[in-house]
Amino acid sequence: MKTKPKKESYLYPCNLPGLKIVRTDDVYLYDENNKKYVDLSASAGVVAVGYNSHRMKEVMRRQAEKNIFSPQLQETSESILLAKKILGLFPAGFDSVLRATTGSEAVEIAMKIAARQTGRSKFLSFKGAYHGHTFAAMSLGGENRLTKEFTPILARFATIKHPSSLNKGRALPADFKKTLKSIEKELKRGGCAGFVAEGVVTSAGCFNFPDGFFKEVLKMCRRYGTLLIFDEVLTGFGRTGKMFSFEHFSICPDMVCLAKGLGSGYAPISAVVSRKELIGNFVYMSTFAWSPLACAVALENINIIEEEKLAKNSCDLGRLTLGFLKKSLSKNKAVKEIRGKGLIIAIEFFNNNDARKIFNDCLKKGVLLFKNYSDNMLFVQPPLNIRKNILNKALGTVIGSINENFG
Ligand SMILES: Cc1ncc(COP(=O)(O)O)c(C=O)c1O
Repeated sequence: MKTKPKKESYLYPCNLPGLKIVRTDDVYLYDENNKKYVDLSASAGVVAVGYNSHRMKEVMRRQAEKNIFSPQLQETSESILLAKKILGLFPAGFDSVLRATTGSEAVEIAMKIAARQTGRSKFLSFKGAYHGHTFAAMSLGGENRLTKEFTPILARFATIKHPSSLNKGRALPADFKKTLKSIEKELKRGGCAGFVAEGVVTSAGCFNFPDGFFKEVLKMCRRYGTLLIFDEVLTGFGRTGKMFSFEHFSICPDMVCLAKGLGSGYAPISAVVSRKELIGNFVYMSTFAWSPLACAVALENINIIEEEKLAKNSCDLGRLTLGFLKKSLSKNKAVKEIRGKGLIIAIEFFNNNDARKIFNDCLKKGVLLFKNYSDNMLFVQPPLNIRKNILNKALGTVIGSINENFG
């Protein structure tokens, strides 16, 4: 009897071994059969300006003629321009940019600076948050499926349970007071070098905080000598409807980690933005960080985000998306809650595996979503340049799929 040949995959891990992407354009991906997919994942929230952008390609072409890579510890005209551009997006007081390649690396750098500056080794973070795949950054992630098997050998960092049901407008003050109390309890215990947070706890399921929340956290951090580190790897560059998620709280953290949206995937590039007085004479090196090509790409990417007002697009379309999803799925018994801010919105299901079912169904129908590892959450986080009509149509597919499968 003939056995069916197995579909081969040479790469590990591979999320969708059957899907080979051969071409991208704007908010679309194309497979080898030229099937078109609307990408509501933005490649794990990386892409702000859309795929295969003509402007980005033009800058890459011009920069390739001039200087792709040069000795990495030297400043280049491109790195100086980019550092100035980034600092121009930040409030006064931020005066230094550290150069790196990935989000995890940026988080590690901020943790090292905090440990060195305070002489302490403990860090706080929110339960269920994801801050990277390297050992220290992974230790911030609590007990999610990605980090669980390493728990016995990870440094013991405290995770704070964020309040649930934030979008329901009930019991908020009590929930938040409780969270603030548990943060204070941990800080009081002593030894906390830093608190690593996002303005929206994205991986945990896009939990939001009320306006005054981080002002209180910052006050407490100051009281106990702990540094506040904002991980804007995913939330940065307009994803939550403002350029950075800390802006929703009118605060100034001590350090800010940037990655994904900084280069929109056209180059691996990340950064930590901070103050000279905290960095002191801290030294680190990263071989591939901030090549002239990566800097030129990031600079053009930020220009596009600003000129095309992509943070505002994210804010406006995010609000519409949240309303549309909530209204259309309010009676669906499988959906537990829908939360988010800007163009990062989580649909949480009661049952594990429900997200996988919808994910697969939508993929067949030409819509790629982002899904968590526990298979109980789907994320709507398209490239920030997506247009309303394209987004609405894709959302219609997602809503239709959920209502058909679990109506
Ligand atoms: C909030 C956050 N921090 C850090 C990281 C790690 O970034 P990278 O995969 O570039 O190392 C991620 C990646 O998903 C992230 O979402």
